[in-house]
Amino acid sequence: MKYLSSRRGIILAGGNGTRLAPITSAISKQLIPVYDKPMIYYPITTLMLCGIRDILIVTNPNSVELFKALLGNGDKWGVNFSYAIQNKAEGVAHAILVAEKFIKNSNIAIALGDNLFHGNDLVNLLRSADKRIKGGSIFAYPVSDPRNYGVVQFDKEGNILDIEEKPDNPLSQYAITGLYFYDNSAFERIKELRFSPRGELEITSLNNHYLNQNLLNVEIMGRGMAWLDTGSFNSLQDASGYIRTLEQRQGLKVGCPEEAAWRQGWIDDKCLENLAFSLMNSGYGEYLLMLLKGLK
Ligand code: G1P
Repeated sequence: MKYLSSRRGIILAGGNGTRLAPITSAISKQLIPVYDKPMIYYPITTLMLCGIRDILIVTNPNSVELFKALLGNGDKWGVNFSYAIQNKAEGVAHAILVAEKFIKNSNIAIALGDNLFHGNDLVNLLRSADKRIKGGSIFAYPVSDPRNYGVVQFDKEGNILDIEEKPDNPLSQYAITGLYFYDNSAFERIKELRFSPRGELEITSLNNHYLNQNLLNVEIMGRGMAWLDTGSFNSLQDASGYIRTLEQRQGLKVGCPEEAAWRQGWIDDKCLENLAFSLMNSGYGEYLLMLLKGLK
């Protein structure tokens, strides 16, 4: 279970969340719950499972204090959280540029703050992408309606032909998920990109930049995995329902950063116990105590 990456992580939690208004009129989308925890816990846990301990949270100016109140500096989970502000919602690739100072010379892993992953293969997929030092690695997942996503087209041999952002007529079912691993050249590449017709620096343009030099790897997430996004009323409710069903059936939590930290050996038993005591009234704390008793 223990694994340490040399990458630095970025969680993109900016944007205006307009597709969820009025829920998001006064609060950032990534702070609202997906069943029993704030949405941002899920991508944080994803990066922690990949052994990433230095994580920058990119938010909009109105929300940064709320994220700090929730997450602090990361000490409690044995990680380091830093914060940066994206002043205007000018796209995923633009938000990555905001992180340039924080990243320095490292390679990066980026998780969109509203994407949720679950499945047996997840940790192996993450760690194999982490080990690819040069170029970029992205993940494709089959969905029934890919028109809202980046869509990747493959040839018969499974080589990537092209990636299109939100195509009206998608040429495959494979959507690109909101999890991206890049080498440090990402920053220079983004500076060469042009804004798209919707006024954004698109992550799809960055992926195509890597692809044009044969430096893009796409991993398929198979049917045994779940990738859920939470950008609309229905998908948010579906994600909550999925987590609730799994957690109630198995008695195991999904996207629990306290558990990931403890299993990684980044916090000890005593720390986990203290976290548990601060969360006793909701049942979340009892779950953490069960871990300590070895019952999970
Ligand atoms: C963004 C990306 C898109 C990707 C999606 C995953 O879309 O632009 O390529 O498939 O995230 O959630 P957006 O959230 O900006 O609509």
